[in-house]
Amino acid sequence: MTRHLLEVDDLTPSELAAVLARCRDDAPAPALAGRGVALLFEKPSTRTRHSTEMAVVQLGGHPVTVRADEAGIDGRETAEDVARTLACYHAAIGARVFAHRTLERMAGAARVPVVNLLSDDSHPLQAVADLLTIEDEFGHLDGLVLAWVGDHTNVARSLGLAAVAAGLSVRLGCPPGYGPSEVEVDRLRAGGGDVKVCDRAVEAVAGADVVVTDTWYSMGQEGEAEVRRRAFEGFTVDPALLDRAAPGAILLHCLPAHRGEEVAAEALDGPRSRVWAEATNRMHAARGVLSWLLEQP
Ligand code: CP
Ligand code: NVA
Repeated sequence: MTRHLLEVDDLTPSELAAVLARCRDDAPAPALAGRGVALLFEKPSTRTRHSTEMAVVQLGGHPVTVRADEAGIDGRETAEDVARTLACYHAAIGARVFAHRTLERMAGAARVPVVNLLSDDSHPLQAVADLLTIEDEFGHLDGLVLAWVGDHTNVARSLGLAAVAAGLSVRLGCPPGYGPSEVEVDRLRAGGGDVKVCDRAVEAVAGADVVVTDTWYSMGQEGEAEVRRRAFEGFTVDPALLDRAAPGAILLHCLPAHRGEEVAAEALDGPRSRVWAEATNRMHAARGVLSWLLEQP
Protein backbone atom coordinates (compact mmCIF):
# COMPACT_ATOMS: atom_id res chain seq x y z
CA MET A 1 0.00 0.00 0.00
CA THR A 2 1.37 3.43 -0.95
CA ARG A 3 2.43 5.39 2.14
CA HIS A 4 1.64 9.09 2.43
CA LEU A 5 2.50 11.76 5.00
CA LEU A 6 -0.55 13.90 5.61
CA GLU A 7 -0.10 14.21 9.39
CA VAL A 8 2.62 13.16 11.81
CA ASP A 9 0.58 10.31 13.29
CA ASP A 10 0.48 8.61 9.89
CA LEU A 11 3.85 7.40 11.22
CA THR A 12 4.20 5.16 14.27
CA PRO A 13 6.62 6.50 16.91
CA SER A 14 9.28 4.04 15.71
CA GLU A 15 8.73 5.08 12.08
CA LEU A 16 9.07 8.72 13.13
CA ALA A 17 12.39 7.84 14.80
CA ALA A 18 13.49 6.11 11.58
CA VAL A 19 12.53 9.21 9.56
CA LEU A 20 14.52 11.44 11.93
CA ALA A 21 17.55 9.18 11.52
CA ARG A 22 17.11 9.30 7.74
CA CYS A 23 17.02 13.12 7.86
CA ARG A 24 20.48 13.01 9.44
CA ASP A 25 21.91 11.13 6.43
CA ASP A 26 23.46 13.94 4.41
CA ALA A 27 24.73 11.64 1.65
CA PRO A 28 21.60 9.64 0.88
CA ALA A 29 21.15 7.15 -1.97
CA PRO A 30 19.89 8.96 -5.10
CA ALA A 31 16.38 7.56 -4.69
CA LEU A 32 14.99 10.05 -7.21
CA ALA A 33 17.62 9.69 -9.95
CA GLY A 34 15.92 10.44 -13.24
CA ARG A 35 12.56 10.99 -11.55
CA GLY A 36 10.42 13.99 -10.72
CA VAL A 37 8.45 15.26 -7.74
CA ALA A 38 5.44 17.52 -8.30
CA LEU A 39 5.00 20.31 -5.76
CA LEU A 40 1.60 22.01 -5.80
CA PHE A 41 0.90 25.25 -3.92
CA GLU A 42 -2.51 26.77 -3.17
CA LYS A 43 -0.85 29.22 -0.70
CA PRO A 44 2.40 31.21 -0.71
CA SER A 45 5.63 29.63 0.53
CA THR A 46 9.30 30.46 0.87
CA ARG A 47 10.80 27.82 3.18
CA THR A 48 8.67 24.88 2.12
CA ARG A 49 9.04 25.41 -1.59
CA HIS A 50 12.79 25.98 -1.53
CA SER A 51 13.67 23.36 1.08
CA THR A 52 11.59 20.69 -0.65
CA GLU A 53 12.89 21.55 -4.12
CA MET A 54 16.46 21.32 -2.85
CA ALA A 55 15.72 18.07 -1.02
CA VAL A 56 14.51 16.59 -4.31
CA VAL A 57 17.72 17.77 -6.00
CA GLN A 58 19.79 16.21 -3.21
CA LEU A 59 18.05 12.89 -3.88
CA GLY A 60 18.98 13.14 -7.57
CA GLY A 61 15.51 14.13 -8.77
CA HIS A 62 13.83 17.04 -10.50
CA PRO A 63 11.19 19.17 -8.74
CA VAL A 64 8.31 20.61 -10.75
CA THR A 65 6.50 23.31 -8.80
CA VAL A 66 2.94 24.01 -9.90
CA ARG A 67 0.76 26.89 -8.76
CA ALA A 68 -2.71 25.82 -7.76
CA ASP A 69 -4.38 27.97 -10.38
CA GLU A 70 -2.32 26.21 -13.06
CA ALA A 71 -3.44 22.81 -11.83
CA GLY A 72 -7.03 24.03 -11.46
CA ILE A 73 -8.01 21.64 -8.69
CA ASP A 74 -11.80 21.24 -8.67
CA GLY A 75 -12.03 23.81 -11.43
CA ARG A 76 -10.33 22.45 -14.52
CA GLU A 77 -10.54 18.92 -13.11
CA THR A 78 -10.96 17.15 -9.79
CA ALA A 79 -8.26 16.86 -7.13
CA GLU A 80 -8.31 13.11 -7.74
CA ASP A 81 -7.64 13.50 -11.47
CA VAL A 82 -4.87 16.05 -10.85
CA ALA A 83 -3.20 13.56 -8.47
CA ARG A 84 -3.66 10.62 -10.88
CA THR A 85 -2.16 12.69 -13.69
CA LEU A 86 0.84 13.89 -11.68
CA ALA A 87 1.49 10.29 -10.61
CA CYS A 88 1.93 9.36 -14.30
CA TYR A 89 5.14 11.42 -14.41
CA HIS A 90 6.35 11.81 -10.84
CA ALA A 91 7.67 9.58 -8.06
CA ALA A 92 5.90 11.64 -5.39
CA ILE A 93 3.53 14.59 -4.98
CA GLY A 94 3.75 17.37 -2.42
CA ALA A 95 0.84 19.75 -1.91
CA ARG A 96 0.14 22.87 0.15
CA VAL A 97 -3.62 23.33 0.37
CA PHE A 98 -6.35 25.11 2.27
CA ALA A 99 -8.70 22.17 2.94
CA HIS A 100 -6.96 19.13 4.43
CA ARG A 101 -9.60 17.03 2.67
CA THR A 102 -7.99 17.95 -0.66
CA LEU A 103 -4.84 16.11 0.43
CA GLU A 104 -6.86 13.10 1.54
CA ARG A 105 -8.57 13.00 -1.84
CA MET A 106 -5.26 13.24 -3.67
CA ALA A 107 -3.72 10.52 -1.50
CA GLY A 108 -6.75 8.31 -2.09
CA ALA A 109 -6.32 8.59 -5.84
CA ALA A 110 -2.54 8.69 -6.37
CA ARG A 111 -0.41 5.57 -6.63
CA VAL A 112 2.66 7.53 -5.45
CA PRO A 113 3.33 9.06 -2.01
CA VAL A 114 1.55 12.34 -1.24
CA VAL A 115 3.28 14.65 1.23
CA ASN A 116 1.48 17.46 3.06
CA LEU A 117 3.36 20.73 2.50
CA LEU A 118 0.88 22.45 4.93
CA SER A 119 -2.88 22.41 5.11
CA ASP A 120 -5.27 24.41 7.27
CA ASP A 121 -5.02 21.49 9.72
CA SER A 122 -1.39 20.41 9.79
CA HIS A 123 2.24 20.90 8.80
CA PRO A 124 4.12 17.64 9.37
CA LEU A 125 7.38 18.57 7.58
CA GLN A 126 7.71 21.54 9.92
CA ALA A 127 7.23 19.23 12.91
CA VAL A 128 9.97 16.88 11.69
CA ALA A 129 12.32 19.85 11.24
CA ASP A 130 11.46 21.09 14.72
CA LEU A 131 12.29 17.73 16.33
CA LEU A 132 15.62 17.72 14.47
CA THR A 133 16.36 21.21 15.81
CA ILE A 134 15.49 20.21 19.38
CA GLU A 135 17.61 17.06 19.14
CA ASP A 136 20.51 19.09 17.70
CA GLU A 137 20.35 21.30 20.78
CA PHE A 138 19.84 18.82 23.60
CA GLY A 139 21.22 15.60 22.09
CA HIS A 140 17.96 13.79 22.86
CA LEU A 141 14.19 14.30 22.79
CA ASP A 142 12.73 12.03 25.44
CA GLY A 143 11.83 13.77 28.70
CA LEU A 144 12.05 17.36 27.47
CA VAL A 145 9.19 19.82 27.99
CA LEU A 146 7.83 21.72 25.00
CA ALA A 147 5.63 24.78 25.53
CA TRP A 148 3.44 26.10 22.73
CA VAL A 149 2.32 29.71 23.21
CA GLY A 150 -0.40 31.50 21.20
CA ASP A 151 -2.70 30.19 18.49
CA HIS A 152 -3.14 26.42 18.26
CA THR A 153 -2.34 26.44 14.53
CA ASN A 154 -1.68 23.76 11.93
CA VAL A 155 1.96 23.92 13.03
CA ALA A 156 0.97 23.42 16.69
CA ARG A 157 -1.17 20.38 15.87
CA SER A 158 1.60 18.58 13.99
CA LEU A 159 4.33 19.56 16.43
CA GLY A 160 2.24 18.39 19.38
CA LEU A 161 1.76 14.98 17.77
CA ALA A 162 5.44 14.75 16.87
CA ALA A 163 6.52 15.80 20.35
CA VAL A 164 4.39 13.27 22.24
CA ALA A 165 5.48 10.52 19.82
CA ALA A 166 9.10 11.38 20.60
CA GLY A 167 8.55 11.36 24.38
CA LEU A 168 8.37 15.08 25.10
CA SER A 169 5.83 16.56 27.50
CA VAL A 170 3.62 19.17 25.84
CA ARG A 171 2.19 22.32 27.41
CA LEU A 172 -0.27 24.34 25.32
CA GLY A 173 -0.85 27.94 26.45
CA CYS A 174 -3.55 29.52 24.28
CA PRO A 175 -6.19 32.22 24.88
CA PRO A 176 -9.76 30.97 25.35
CA GLY A 177 -11.26 30.04 21.99
CA TYR A 178 -7.89 29.59 20.30
CA GLY A 179 -6.65 26.42 21.98
CA PRO A 180 -6.99 22.77 20.99
CA SER A 181 -10.39 21.09 20.82
CA GLU A 182 -11.16 18.13 23.08
CA VAL A 183 -10.79 15.83 20.07
CA GLU A 184 -7.33 17.28 19.38
CA VAL A 185 -6.25 16.83 23.00
CA ASP A 186 -7.53 13.23 22.96
CA ARG A 187 -5.53 12.61 19.78
CA LEU A 188 -2.40 13.99 21.47
CA ARG A 189 -2.98 11.75 24.49
CA ALA A 190 -3.86 8.67 22.42
CA GLY A 191 -0.40 7.13 22.79
CA GLY A 192 -0.10 8.08 26.47
CA GLY A 193 1.29 11.56 25.81
CA ASP A 194 1.77 13.98 28.74
CA VAL A 195 -0.26 17.01 27.62
CA LYS A 196 -1.45 19.99 29.66
CA VAL A 197 -3.64 22.81 28.33
CA CYS A 198 -3.88 26.22 29.98
CA ASP A 199 -4.87 29.75 29.02
CA ARG A 200 -1.84 31.61 30.39
CA ALA A 201 1.46 31.90 28.56
CA VAL A 202 3.54 32.02 31.78
CA GLU A 203 1.96 28.82 33.04
CA ALA A 204 2.74 26.96 29.80
CA VAL A 205 6.32 28.20 29.66
CA ALA A 206 7.28 27.57 33.32
CA GLY A 207 10.34 25.30 33.30
CA ALA A 208 10.00 24.40 29.60
CA ASP A 209 13.05 23.41 27.54
CA VAL A 210 11.56 24.51 24.23
CA VAL A 211 9.21 27.45 23.66
CA VAL A 212 7.41 27.61 20.32
CA THR A 213 5.00 30.08 18.78
CA ASP A 214 3.43 30.88 15.41
CA THR A 215 1.54 33.72 13.78
CA TRP A 216 -1.76 34.82 15.35
CA TYR A 217 -3.44 34.82 11.91
CA SER A 218 -2.53 32.02 9.56
CA MET A 219 -2.78 32.13 5.77
CA GLY A 220 -6.46 32.54 4.96
CA GLN A 221 -7.22 34.32 8.29
CA GLU A 222 -5.75 37.71 7.40
CA GLY A 223 -9.22 39.29 7.55
CA GLU A 224 -9.39 38.41 11.26
CA ALA A 225 -6.05 40.04 12.07
CA GLU A 226 -7.43 42.92 14.15
CA VAL A 227 -9.76 40.74 16.22
CA ARG A 228 -6.99 38.24 16.75
CA ARG A 229 -4.41 40.85 17.75
CA ARG A 230 -6.76 41.84 20.59
CA ALA A 231 -7.50 38.23 21.56
CA PHE A 232 -3.80 37.38 21.80
CA GLU A 233 -2.75 40.35 23.97
CA GLY A 234 -0.37 39.02 26.64
CA PHE A 235 0.75 36.11 24.47
CA THR A 236 3.78 37.75 22.88
CA VAL A 237 6.88 35.62 23.43
CA ASP A 238 9.45 38.10 24.72
CA PRO A 239 12.68 37.79 26.72
CA ALA A 240 10.78 38.18 30.02
CA LEU A 241 8.55 35.22 29.14
CA LEU A 242 11.57 33.17 28.05
CA ASP A 243 13.14 33.91 31.47
CA ARG A 244 10.35 31.77 32.97
CA ALA A 245 11.50 28.75 30.93
CA ALA A 246 14.26 26.33 31.99
CA PRO A 247 17.87 27.56 31.93
CA GLY A 248 19.16 26.74 28.45
CA ALA A 249 15.70 26.84 26.90
CA ILE A 250 15.45 27.55 23.18
CA LEU A 251 12.86 29.41 21.09
CA LEU A 252 11.47 28.00 17.84
CA HIS A 253 9.19 29.66 15.26
CA CYS A 254 8.32 28.11 11.89
CA LEU A 255 8.45 31.58 10.24
CA PRO A 256 7.26 33.83 8.72
CA ALA A 257 7.31 35.85 11.96
CA HIS A 258 5.56 39.07 12.91
CA ARG A 259 7.98 40.83 15.25
CA GLY A 260 6.08 42.72 17.95
CA GLU A 261 3.05 40.42 17.66
CA GLU A 262 3.44 36.72 18.51
CA VAL A 263 7.18 37.21 19.13
CA ALA A 264 9.28 40.18 20.24
CA ALA A 265 12.21 41.04 17.99
CA GLU A 266 14.51 40.74 21.03
CA ALA A 267 13.41 37.11 21.45
CA LEU A 268 13.34 36.08 17.78
CA ASP A 269 16.72 37.68 17.08
CA GLY A 270 18.15 36.92 20.53
CA PRO A 271 20.51 34.28 21.92
CA ARG A 272 17.84 31.69 22.71
CA SER A 273 16.40 31.69 19.19
CA ARG A 274 17.17 28.71 16.94
CA VAL A 275 14.89 29.76 14.08
CA TRP A 276 17.56 29.75 11.37
CA ALA A 277 18.78 26.28 12.31
CA GLU A 278 15.10 25.31 12.28
CA ALA A 279 14.63 26.74 8.78
CA THR A 280 17.75 24.89 7.60
CA ASN A 281 16.38 21.66 9.04
CA ARG A 282 13.33 22.00 6.78
CA MET A 283 15.53 20.79 3.91
CA HIS A 284 16.88 17.84 5.89
CA ALA A 285 13.34 16.99 6.97
CA ALA A 286 12.00 17.02 3.41
CA ARG A 287 14.91 14.89 2.17
CA GLY A 288 14.53 12.36 4.98
CA VAL A 289 10.75 12.08 4.63
CA LEU A 290 10.88 11.66 0.83
CA SER A 291 13.71 9.18 0.99
CA TRP A 292 11.92 7.11 3.66
CA LEU A 293 8.54 7.17 1.91
CA LEU A 294 10.04 6.17 -1.43
CA GLU A 295 11.55 2.99 -0.02
CA GLN A 296 8.38 1.77 1.68
CA PRO A 297 7.00 -1.39 0.04
N1 CP B 1 7.59 27.52 7.76
C1 CP B 1 7.03 27.49 6.51
O1 CP B 1 6.32 26.55 6.12
O2 CP B 1 7.35 28.57 5.75
P1 CP B 1 6.77 28.90 4.29
O3 CP B 1 5.30 29.24 4.47
O4 CP B 1 7.58 30.04 3.81
O5 CP B 1 6.90 27.67 3.43
N1 NVA C 1 0.25 28.82 10.75
C1 NVA C 1 0.93 29.43 9.64
C2 NVA C 1 2.17 28.67 9.32
C3 NVA C 1 2.97 29.20 8.16
C4 NVA C 1 4.16 28.36 7.84
C5 NVA C 1 0.01 29.50 8.44
O1 NVA C 1 -0.69 28.53 8.18
O2 NVA C 1 -0.03 30.55 7.79
